[in-house]
Amino acid sequence: MKGNIVVGQSGGPTAVINSSVAGVYVAAKQLGVDKVYGMVHGIEGFLKDKLTDLDDYLSDDMGVELLKRTPSAFLGSCRFKMPKIEGHEDVYEKVFEIMEKHDIQYLFYAGGNDSMDTVKMLSDYAAAHGKSQKFMGVPKTIDNDLPITDHCPGYGSSAKYIATSLKEIIRDNASFGAEKPTICIVEIMGRNAGWLTAAAALAKGPDCEGVDAIYLPERTFDMDGFMKKVKTLSETRTSVVIAVSEGVKLADGRYVCELEADSVPVDAFGHKQMGGTATTLAHKIAAEYGLKTRAVELSTLQRAGTHIASLTDINEAFQVGHDAVVAADQGKTGEMIILKRDCDSPYECGTSSYDIHQIANVERAVPDEYIGADGCSITAEYIKYARPLIIGELTPVFVNGLPRHILCREVIEYEK
Ligand code: F6P
Repeated sequence: MKGNIVVGQSGGPTAVINSSVAGVYVAAKQLGVDKVYGMVHGIEGFLKDKLTDLDDYLSDDMGVELLKRTPSAFLGSCRFKMPKIEGHEDVYEKVFEIMEKHDIQYLFYAGGNDSMDTVKMLSDYAAAHGKSQKFMGVPKTIDNDLPITDHCPGYGSSAKYIATSLKEIIRDNASFGAEKPTICIVEIMGRNAGWLTAAAALAKGPDCEGVDAIYLPERTFDMDGFMKKVKTLSETRTSVVIAVSEGVKLADGRYVCELEADSVPVDAFGHKQMGGTATTLAHKIAAEYGLKTRAVELSTLQRAGTHIASLTDINEAFQVGHDAVVAADQGKTGEMIILKRDCDSPYECGTSSYDIHQIANVERAVPDEYIGADGCSITAEYIKYARPLIIGELTPVFVNGLPRHILCREVIEYEK
């Protein structure tokens, strides 16, 4: 491989996105790359020339092993939208100026739909301006909503965390056997796609009765239907646990979480800040039925739970980072690594690469065959798809009773 490389992380972090950075680093070193730089806070920091030399952290095996066991974005993340090229050429020229300054010939960007837009824009600009640098996407998102790829690194670990937490919540909620059950509403991330909420169905098994209903954003949220369901469940069960996506919307287009909020802030991509769906529903149930309720918002816990990450997910996250470097070395650019499943049982999955234009900004919803006819349950087909993704564990390195993580100084000391 000629020249140096840079890797960045972007968008919502995951439990395994650092494993992808480890994969990029290891592959680059195997190919004889001198400097493997990390972007501090993604493309936003890169535009300010904020870089770190990954040799400072990963040159011994312990560094790589700790990185695989460290949640969130070791390099720092960002939600930065590249402007349209026309009229903003200076922003693009700045990226290439910084690449040239550090002799960076390859840029790898780990992220979801919005982040793949950055890879698309930069590779398009390079193609249009005769620049030789190469750009590759490394898939990542707990939302599992990137198209083309069978699944996204990050999803399996969040699904494992969610299913584990629900098993624990169900046991807790069932402990009292009171005359009237406590209604526990568990809110799960995933703005427009219900993949993560569907993972609640994985909790059911020989040692767990499972959740009582699952509401995904793929189905319009019928408040009256939901309230009737809660009433029926409360009359027939001693414990009720319901999983609901943060992104469920009413027929008029309002998110349920907006019903109690005065106004909801938006990010650089115009996405509304989510959160509060479970609380809104719990308040309504308590007010109308006088039942005891609990609202559990798994929030960032579900994407930061590296202590219970899926080993399958960790390994695949590493692999996509590794294979992005190999693909770029073979001359590919403007593509993203995808996962291709060959078999469910025994689970076998390989990688390939795919045109970024077919991937950036496209969201893959949960298909109809995974959603029950009642609109609030999940089918066995989904379980067959998702189960292999949560298999295996990687024991944390415990120090003083807690998992040890690795931190990047340049991220801790970052000044805006
Ligand atoms: O994109 C991943 C994700 O975790 C979504 O599931 C969630 O809606 C969003 O990020 C939350 O973003 P933030 O942490 O910026 O509020």
